[in-house]
Amino acid sequence: MMLKNKVALITGVGSGMGEAMAKLFAAEGANVVGADINQEAINRVINNIRETGGAAIGVKADVSQPNDIEIMIKSAVKEYGRLDILVNNAGIMDNFVPVAELSEELWDRIMNVNVKGPFLACREALKIMLKQGRGVIINNASVGGLFGTRGGAAYVASKHALIGLTKNIGAIYHDQGIRCVAIAPGGVKTNIALTLKNPNELGAGKLARGVGPAPMGEPEEIASLALFLASDDASFINGTVIVADGGWTAY
Ligand SMILES: NC(=O)c1ccc[n+]([C@@H]2O[C@H](COP(=O)([O-])OP(=O)(O)OC[C@H]3O[C@@H](n4cnc5c(N)ncnc54)[C@H](O)[C@@H]3O)[C@@H](O)[C@H]2O)c1
Repeated sequence: MMLKNKVALITGVGSGMGEAMAKLFAAEGANVVGADINQEAINRVINNIRETGGAAIGVKADVSQPNDIEIMIKSAVKEYGRLDILVNNAGIMDNFVPVAELSEELWDRIMNVNVKGPFLACREALKIMLKQGRGVIINNASVGGLFGTRGGAAYVASKHALIGLTKNIGAIYHDQGIRCVAIAPGGVKTNIALTLKNPNELGAGKLARGVGPAPMGEPEEIASLALFLASDDASFINGTVIVADGGWTAY
């Protein structure tokens, strides 16, 4: 078991990659704390983990809300006494809107969920991890965090920022027992596409041009990477970003 007795908090646990990570981490011995904005989805995933013999609790939390972040982290420590792994996975897309058509409201919403939430969660988790002298933070970014057109302007900017945050944390705290790593998935078959409503023609059109359609991965293929990164087997991987995109960015 790769995560025996570790305490792992995963956000966005109600669907897609977060759900796959929660199930895999629990199967590998972790005590899982699953956070999501959707209570029904939390219940489904947490019940499923328990039914299959795993240990998990759910916490309703909107990662864009500082109070919810505090409650989420405190719940983990209250239930299991420590926090070994934080996965900032919850994130939302922006309908591929380019800058000239981008409202401040959409910009703020994307930044609050995709960047401010992970920042707040890292800050609160680090208070505990630094005391423990040990901890791993995994940020689920995107190839949109490395290239210009794998999302709209706000999404791309938010995921670049998340990768920057990852590098800063990895560099600053590396000698205090902390590792921080970002994952950059390409296209993955989850529910995130359901949030796209008539994607912006200019933004989405540029996505396809040149690189072709994304090879689509399964959420479990990202979960297995997250498991490795969260485990001691990845002890020398820190402050960097690992791409998992089926070769989408190789051409
Ligand atoms: N699916 C892809 O192709 C893809 C590619 C690259 C990166 N990503 C990133 O992977 C992460 C997971 O996405 P997914 O594809 O599994 O999506 P998904 O939509 O299937 O799941 C996201 C989960 O996050 C929850 N959520 C949304 N807003 C939240 C908030 N404010 N607070 C708490 N929970 C919230 C949703 O309820 C949902 O359960 C995101 O950060 C996304 O940007 C996805």
